[in-house]
Amino acid sequence: MSDVAIVGGGVIGLACAFELARRGSSVTVLEREEPGFGASTVAAGMLTPSFEVELTPQSLVELQLDSLRRYPQFVRDIEGAGGRSCGYRDEGSLWVSRHRDDELELDHTLKIQQQRGLPARRLTGREVRALEPYVSPRAVGGLLVESDHQVDSRKLVPALRAACEAIGVDVRTGTGVATVERAAGAMELTCQHGGVTSPFHADQVLLAAGVWLEEGLVTPLPKIGMRPIKGQIVHLQGQRLVRHVIRNSDVYLVPRDGGRLLIGATEEEQGFDMNPTAGGTLDLLRFGFEVLPGIYDLDIAEIDVGLRPTFHDHMPVLGATTTDGIYMASGHYRGGVLLAAATAHWMAEIMLTGQVPSEIEPFSFQRFAAENTQQEAAS
Ligand code: GLY
Repeated sequence: MSDVAIVGGGVIGLACAFELARRGSSVTVLEREEPGFGASTVAAGMLTPSFEVELTPQSLVELQLDSLRRYPQFVRDIEGAGGRSCGYRDEGSLWVSRHRDDELELDHTLKIQQQRGLPARRLTGREVRALEPYVSPRAVGGLLVESDHQVDSRKLVPALRAACEAIGVDVRTGTGVATVERAAGAMELTCQHGGVTSPFHADQVLLAAGVWLEEGLVTPLPKIGMRPIKGQIVHLQGQRLVRHVIRNSDVYLVPRDGGRLLIGATEEEQGFDMNPTAGGTLDLLRFGFEVLPGIYDLDIAEIDVGLRPTFHDHMPVLGATTTDGIYMASGHYRGGVLLAAATAHWMAEIMLTGQVPSEIEPFSFQRFAAENTQQEAAS
């Protein structure tokens, strides 16, 4: 029996576990595979609220900014508790334009970023190359966003796990959850580990199961349309070519320690398929080469594939559900790593105080429950 059982040991589940345990709750994390299997360790780890700012509702931009502000302390707390690095870096990101059309898009992006309180600076092609000499000589301009940072998701997830375990969280791997229901005043979960089925009890359950939220997990909740969006990401290895995250509207290139360079990412409706494809790799390398021709000589280290947990409005669900005792922190789509710090903070607030702050209301489960009721009434 725990105060809280968390279904899912990705970055969101572990971050919430850490924050709840820090505030005194006994917490058990139930992870069907290894922590971060679905999306978290595949993620490029960009902490870039400026990303796709025009298409992002202001409530989500505010949450992203809130999370970015919390990140330095979040990282210090994790590293302090567990003793492992999260690979946090603060070089900023650099948008690169290739032609007039890109230039107009960067002007537009700058305007929207300024309207939304995101600091950014327009650069000439010459200024871009002064900052990053390996960027293509065809670059005609750029946009520097110094407030964008990054973590190495392959370091963050083990660092979070170590921090959780150091403060008493019970992290159970290889443990699937088949059912969650209310029984005799507590929540009862049916867990499966190594072919053995056993019950587990907790006062509260937090569903942070990523794309598996509605896949093989039976709960009293209505279905709200979780679906996976496949992302392929190519890892190259060799001479270090850039310091900043480099991006345009087709691709992003993320430098990691030790000469690794990530090129991401595809966005595909392929269900639960996790196979890398020739087409995905071709597109990423072609777009990456256009921006940074020097990638031609790098080695292909690996091609990684993740499944982004996504609801149809591309916003996460954060908070209580329609069943007492069941909470949800799911559907972070392309922003799970960035939103982890704010998600952990606000979920702990909501679960421990019962209060929902106004900035979190747009992310309610009820927005989908209301849609379901309208659809039922119409049919
Ligand atoms: N967070 C970037 C992506 O999902 O591709």
